[in-house]
Amino acid sequence: MAENLVISTGSKEEKYKVLLPQIKALLEGETDLIANMANVAAMIKSTFGFFWVGFYRLQEEMLVLGPFQGPIACTRIRYGKGVCGTAWRDAVTVIVPNVDDFPGHIACNSASKSEIVVPIFRKELVIGVLDIDSDQLNTFDETDARYLEKICRLLGEE
Ligand code: SME
Repeated sequence: MAENLVISTGSKEEKYKVLLPQIKALLEGETDLIANMANVAAMIKSTFGFFWVGFYRLQEEMLVLGPFQGPIACTRIRYGKGVCGTAWRDAVTVIVPNVDDFPGHIACNSASKSEIVVPIFRKELVIGVLDIDSDQLNTFDETDARYLEKICRLLGEE
């Protein structure tokens, strides 16, 4: 896999369309989940410049901070807590246009204004989540959900 990430200068959808095959190619050559999460976080952060991009992994019935790009973050999140714990419990993608309107949102950094959390499944069980924070309101929509779910499906494949 080349070290040079190609980044589209087009729309959000075009950025994802250029990013996705590069993620696919990268993951095909590596089976270690942490290594793959680390590179995927870097690729998403480099493509979009989001404030925080990272993973939490399910470890002994808690979400534990994994590879990420951005400021330091909370290390452990309980079932059903915050946006991450909600996405884990409900096993669905959660889009939060304004974190102040999400009851129980866990503020790791006061600069975060909107957020998306996508579960990662392996054999139909949630094994972790992808969490992306933006320092702007209303950053994430169905396009993000659709492509980030594809990325998380690739990560969940063994
Ligand atoms: N805001 C998240 C916590 C993780 S940080 O944003 C990195 C939540 O409410 O679950």
